[in-house]
Amino acid sequence: MSKPTDILGISCFYHDSAAVLVRDGKLFAAAQEERFSRKKHDPRFPENAIRYCLSEAGIDASALTALVFYDKPILTFDRLLMSYLTVAPRGLRSWLEALPLWLGQKLHVPKVVRKRIGYDGDVMFTEHHEAHAASAFYPSPFSRAAILTVDGVGEWATASYGVGDGKRIELEKELHFPDSVGLLYSAFTYFTGFRVNSGEYKLMGLAPYGEPIYKDLILDELVDVKEDGSVRLNMAYFDFLGGLKMTNRRFGRLFGGPPRKPETEITRREMDIAASIQAVTEEIILKMARHVHRQTGMKHLCMAGGVALNCVANGRLLREGPFEDIWIQPAAGDAGGALGAALSVWHRYLDRDREDPAGRDRQNGSYLGPSFSAESVAAYLQENGYPFHRLDPRTRAWAVAREIADGKIVGYFAGRMEYGPRALGARSILGDPRREDTQTVMNLKIKYRESFRPFAPTVLEDRAAEYFDLDRPSPYMLLVAGVVEHRRLPQPRDGAAGVLQRLKVKRSDIPAVTHLDYSARVQTVSRDVKADYYDVIREFAEQTGCPVVVNTSFNVRGEPIVCSPQDAYRCFMRTEMDTLVMEDCILYKNEQPPWQERDDWREDLILD
Ligand SMILES: [Fe+2]
Repeated sequence: MSKPTDILGISCFYHDSAAVLVRDGKLFAAAQEERFSRKKHDPRFPENAIRYCLSEAGIDASALTALVFYDKPILTFDRLLMSYLTVAPRGLRSWLEALPLWLGQKLHVPKVVRKRIGYDGDVMFTEHHEAHAASAFYPSPFSRAAILTVDGVGEWATASYGVGDGKRIELEKELHFPDSVGLLYSAFTYFTGFRVNSGEYKLMGLAPYGEPIYKDLILDELVDVKEDGSVRLNMAYFDFLGGLKMTNRRFGRLFGGPPRKPETEITRREMDIAASIQAVTEEIILKMARHVHRQTGMKHLCMAGGVALNCVANGRLLREGPFEDIWIQPAAGDAGGALGAALSVWHRYLDRDREDPAGRDRQNGSYLGPSFSAESVAAYLQENGYPFHRLDPRTRAWAVAREIADGKIVGYFAGRMEYGPRALGARSILGDPRREDTQTVMNLKIKYRESFRPFAPTVLEDRAAEYFDLDRPSPYMLLVAGVVEHRRLPQPRDGAAGVLQRLKVKRSDIPAVTHLDYSARVQTVSRDVKADYYDVIREFAEQTGCPVVVNTSFNVRGEPIVCSPQDAYRCFMRTEMDTLVMEDCILYKNEQPPWQERDDWREDLILD
């Protein structure tokens, strides 16, 4: 057999560093560094993720055909320098804070790679949005499609569009820093007291509570949106050019005062701001998509970049057109850049053809990370004296489903770990969506937080239409759809009640996953992509009539999703989870020895 062509893609030094191995043009292994280092959104050089990819492939770094970095640091450096010169001497502090890392590591990626993993070949670089575009198009189910990338910022680009056709990608236009939809959204994430580059999801989840009363104000004062969806930010209100903050005092005056302090009460103002910026963002995305449609004449659209994780906007884009279908890279943020960079080398640099995908995506359900055999799980449990039972493969799904149907909260660990921010049934915590207390129990006993966001549902793909207004699969939880009309329950319109009280009102027969506006962040599962998970839900449907489970990520607040059996067991014991299923091993909490830790682990976790 001839030696395979192995390409390693790396993204790092901003947020969510990751490594991806593409073997002979196929996604072979991919993982984010945070899962190994246990530091959420870890931006450091992804040494552990690289080692995992190499070990999955059974090679060491010297056997790689190519190694590629997902953006061009020298261009980013140039942008930072120019931004500083624009506002100098203001911004000196943030500039000086950033400088050592740039001079030490970011500008010297080839040296760092050589030193840390012993790779001696050339290091290639793709541009940031080129990597996003490649991650959107190459794994997509379309042979030809329009491509739209939208994020905070790469080197200079903040959005781009073009066309993918076979192995070719042509990007036609770019929008440039500081004009950025991602940074606009992040400015509001900051202003409403959530963490930038991680709390955007919360801001989106808060939107249904508010009214978009600030929409016109945002469009009049902060951002000029052109007919083609391009934007121009009024920099008099933002501080990210030279400062350490996203917004300035003038921005605060527009919204009646300073930013909300993290962890303080969420007021009517934040809800209305969330609704307003969400409405503006949707309008921009729709305009961009219509423009791209007009310019390219394509029927299908692929998307990537952090803004493509806005699943509410995606759901609208799908419902309101103009594209017949869209596909979004599940690792749409910068982790996915590593994937795009590696595929880009295969198709563009090595000039290798892309097989006609014939309507099926090449992302393998995004189950691209480490897996652990039942034997290795059992060996780990035995070595540590943790009591467990082996499940018969023929009744495994039935037994897991029975736990969920009994109202138990079940940690579910099976197969290869997900690549991207969402848990999709390989490292998930499952519960019964019909029970009114599931939401509260999961939040307080597992996640140690109160949350204004409902959990996400996983539904059997072939029965999704019985529950959601969704006429196609959503395997990556990137589309928001409404719960079907006849399952909805009327709600009192009590805008004055607090967010948590309002969420506790039962809204449908699957209350744990139904948001205030009857929407849900749906994951559909098909048997050919994830058989074990599909079978569990099918058995749950057999036992209860309901083909839906609650699926939340297997972690506690502030912690990355678990990766190994050790991580999973620790999370199981730290929380009030009832049952843990790892491959064919099942553990019950009441049989476990007492769990002791020296320090309060909650102190080590960053807030999200
Ligand atoms: Fe990006």
